[in-house]
Amino acid sequence: MLTVAVLISGAGSNLRALLDAADDPDYPARIVAVGADREADGLAHAEAYGIPTFMVPYAGFDSREAWGTELDEQLRVWRPDLVVLSGLMRLLPPAVVEAWAPRIVNTHPAYLPEFPGAHGVRDALAAGATQTGASVILVDDGVDSGPILAQERVPVLPGDDEHHLHERIKPVERRLLIDVVRRVATGDLDLVAASASASRTL
Ligand code: GAR
Repeated sequence: MLTVAVLISGAGSNLRALLDAADDPDYPARIVAVGADREADGLAHAEAYGIPTFMVPYAGFDSREAWGTELDEQLRVWRPDLVVLSGLMRLLPPAVVEAWAPRIVNTHPAYLPEFPGAHGVRDALAAGATQTGASVILVDDGVDSGPILAQERVPVLPGDDEHHLHERIKPVERRLLIDVVRRVATGDLDLVAASASASRTL
């Protein structure tokens, strides 16, 4: 059974989908802890499942590195096999990436390498894209630049605004994330091999 820690910053709707999936006895992964960099609403989803939560407030540290050191220590308590960034809106310091790579994945609401960064949905709309997408990637030292583990296109519809487009992307993200975690758990997806590859869909 693969053990997973999830890090969030916000509503945690993708986290909730993963919690629901992991509640199925046939699903090969279990969520052992959920952490956040702020008082994220999504922590309540973990609490509803009786899963331990922790908070390492970014605002409480002098530097990103100091915050990352504490985050790393909190993660180590739970000894997860895999760390999932599910809407964590912070760049991890390199030391934390190094500590967990390649066992750390991120979800992103765009078809990477298109529209990386904190505003993937907004940037796709601003660029006038007719399609965008959802991606699950390995975390590396860059901004959404790690090898792509899974991705799928989502069309941009006439009249789409950021909220509506994001709400259509999220169900795709959830499906991809649940599938990636399952494939890691069953051994179908080898993260060591993926990390050695260039950015391409495996
Ligand atoms: C998700 O769409 C996730 O991909 C995005 O934040 C949202 C979190 O939603 N992450 C990023 O944009 C990271 N660059 P949720 O809190 O409802 O799951």
